[in-house]
Amino acid sequence: MGGVVISVALIISFLLRATCQDSPKRSLRFDGATGKFKIVAFADLHFGENAWENWGPEQDRKSDRVMSYILDAEKPDLVVFLGDVLTANNLPVKNATKYWKQATEATAKRSIPWAAVFGNHDDAPFEWPAQWFGPSGVPGASPGHYAYFQGTSRAELMEEDLKSALSVSVQGPPSLWPSVSNFALPIASHRKPGSTAALLYLMDSGGGSYPQVISAKQASWFRDVSAALNPDNQTQELVFWHIPSKAYESVAPKPSSPIAAPCIGSLNEENVASQSAEWGIMGILAKRPSAKAVVVGHNHGLDWCCPSGSGGLWLCFARHSGYGGYGSWTRGARVIELSENSGEKPRTWIRLENGRVVGELELDKSATRHPRHDADS
Ligand SMILES: *[C@@H]1O[C@H](CO)[C@@H](O)[C@H](O)[C@H]1NC(C)=O
Ligand SMILES: *[C@@H]1O[C@H](CO)[C@@H](O)[C@H](O)[C@H]1NC(C)=O
Repeated sequence: MGGVVISVALIISFLLRATCQDSPKRSLRFDGATGKFKIVAFADLHFGENAWENWGPEQDRKSDRVMSYILDAEKPDLVVFLGDVLTANNLPVKNATKYWKQATEATAKRSIPWAAVFGNHDDAPFEWPAQWFGPSGVPGASPGHYAYFQGTSRAELMEEDLKSALSVSVQGPPSLWPSVSNFALPIASHRKPGSTAALLYLMDSGGGSYPQVISAKQASWFRDVSAALNPDNQTQELVFWHIPSKAYESVAPKPSSPIAAPCIGSLNEENVASQSAEWGIMGILAKRPSAKAVVVGHNHGLDWCCPSGSGGLWLCFARHSGYGGYGSWTRGARVIELSENSGEKPRTWIRLENGRVVGELELDKSATRHPRHDADS
């Protein structure tokens, strides 16, 4: 009997070790000295754009410089890759993981843990450029060599991401397929060992290989997971996904007009490009006072935060971080700083590649603007 117990224990520890590949995942924890935990969200990096020209790889080098600068300026505890890490519809390769590695390299080099969600371009099918059928032909094509550009699926990209000891991403529950990047990340308290002082939820808002939507199944998954992890709704929570919900349209300032209170931001140059349907996630979040903000990317020309409803939920855009993708607005990233010090609310701001900090606010029911930083010009 005892022998059986011991061998079962040995098998389990062997399996655990095998799945962990001797690279135990970082645990995320508030800083002991400051009581803070800082997140940088890189949105819409679009690596691999026009990968067959000089222009594309040059954009990727610039994106790498943006990330390197922001990471050195902000020194975050976690990076969230907020989708459209790749422009897969532009990648004439069989396997896109090389570009994924390039996009995460600046973060990896600095030993900063990261988590990733997918956007609508990460597993988008390859689109043949029309000019390849003109006189210049298909670049790299040689007789007897058949290119094979089917792209890399969400699940395959995630599998590759998980191989890094610094990735704290999770391959989401298979029951939520075809969405993949659905997981919760608890941030441990430093002050009260063994307890959780914040929760991050990362969700897959679709697009690319399937419609741009958060499904009813994902909404019930969120309801169940958040009820289990945060039963009394006392722990502060942040939610990240790529494509804005329809709720963003109803709070959005008129495009190209100044961003007026209660919204705060520095870039307002286009219409919200929202998901194709709303299947319940926003209704759940609106009734959760512990949920402080949803942070999305997708719209490169928006970087505002607007409050939604009376529950204190903020709907925020990140900032176009990459040189790939449309738009030439100054690149940057949304920074969010959580605190476990009593009375301190989460704060957020945009760090631009030119060194400026804009759009700072408290993610609180009664938002406070921090006037020491003004709008981006
Ligand atoms: C893509 O390439 C990586 C790195 O070489 C490899 O580990 C992975 O299995 C490949 N994925 C596919 C789907 O071929
Ligand atoms: C917690 O949040 C849920 C929504 O996710 C809500 O239905 C419930 O009433 C809240 N419970 C408390 C104790 O606030």
